[in-house]
Amino acid sequence: MFKTVEYKNGKVILIDQTRLPLEEVYVECDNYQDVAKAIKIMQVRGAPAIGVAAAMGVAIGAKNINAKDYNKFYDEFLKICDHLASTRPTAVNLFWAIERMKSVADKNKNKPVEHIKNILEKEAIKIREEDITINRAMGMNGQELIEDGDTILTHCNAGALATAGEYGTALGVIKVAHEMGKKIKVYADETRPFLQGARLTAWELVKEGIPVRLITDNMAGYFMGKGEINKIIVGADRIAANGDTANKIGTYSLSILAKEHGIPFYVAAPLSTIDIKITDGSKIPIEERNSQEVTHLSNKRIAPEGVEVSNPAFDVTPHKNINAIITEKGIIKPPFIKNIRNCF
Ligand code: MRU
Repeated sequence: MFKTVEYKNGKVILIDQTRLPLEEVYVECDNYQDVAKAIKIMQVRGAPAIGVAAAMGVAIGAKNINAKDYNKFYDEFLKICDHLASTRPTAVNLFWAIERMKSVADKNKNKPVEHIKNILEKEAIKIREEDITINRAMGMNGQELIEDGDTILTHCNAGALATAGEYGTALGVIKVAHEMGKKIKVYADETRPFLQGARLTAWELVKEGIPVRLITDNMAGYFMGKGEINKIIVGADRIAANGDTANKIGTYSLSILAKEHGIPFYVAAPLSTIDIKITDGSKIPIEERNSQEVTHLSNKRIAPEGVEVSNPAFDVTPHKNINAIITEKGIIKPPFIKNIRNCF
C-alpha cells in the first residue's frame, strides 16, 4: 500500500502525485519551504492531505528555528505558518491544521523551546493518524446510504491520495462498501484540467480491484440519462455553515445534472473541512490556477498562443443540491444550518 504523506526522521515524505499513475516516486522534504512548494505545485493535494502536510511542514520549520527564547521562536514560527498558509486558498483544512499547530505552541509557551519543538512534531504525527481513523469512520457511516448493486459517480480524487492515506473521503465510503462485499461500480470523471480523476482516482480503484469506468466530464449527463448512475459521492475542500460546498471545478454542474435525473448527491468530508465561520458559499475563496493547465496537455500545447483562459480550480455547490454530508460524526441531513451547528 502506498503512503500519501508520512513523517520520518525529521522529514516529510510524500508520494509525488504529479508523477502518478506512470511513476510511483516519493519526494522528501527536510525544510518547510519544500513542503510549501510541494503543496503549491500539487505534489500533494486534496484538502485533508494538504492539512496533514502543512502541519508536518510547521513541525519541521519549528525544529529548524535557532532560538532559545520563546518570543523569538514564536516570531519565526509565525512566519513559517504564514508561508505555508499562502500556498493554496480554498481547502480550509490547510488553515485548520496550521491554527491547530499554533494553538499547541501557544498552550505550551511556558515550556523550554526544545520541548515545544518535540510537542509540535508529535502533534503533526497525531493529525495524520487522526485523519486515517476519521476516514475509516466516515466510510462506515456512509454505508447506510450505499446499497448492494449501486453504480456511483465520483469527481476529482477524494481517495487515500487526497487524505493522510488508506481510505479517503468519498472513495473511503466506496472502499468500505466494497470491503463489506457490496457489489458496487464506480464511474470516475477524468476531471479536467488537472485530471485527478483519470490519473489518481482510476489508479487507486484499479489498485484496489474496485470496478471503475473512466469517463470524460462531459459524458456524465449522458450516463445519468441512460439510468446507469444511481448515486454521486464527492469530497469537499470547504463547506460553509449552511452546507454550501466548494469542491473541484465541475462538481456544481454535476449537482444540477443529479437533480434533473433524481439522483442523490452526497458529499463526504471530515468536520475539519467545515468552515463554521463562513455563513455561505459566496465567502469561499476560489483558487485561480495557471492557464497552462488548460492550454497544455502533458506539457504539449493544445490551444492557440494568445488565447484568453480562465482556470478556476473549484466551484460551489449550493446546499439545496446536496442530499447529505457524510462525516466522521455521522450523516448530516438538511436543514444543514441547524444540523451542522449541532456537530460543533
Ligand atoms: O485541487 P485539489 O486536487 O487539491 O482538489 C481536491 C478536490 O477538489 C477533490 O475533489 C476532493 O474531493 C477534495 S479533498 C478530499
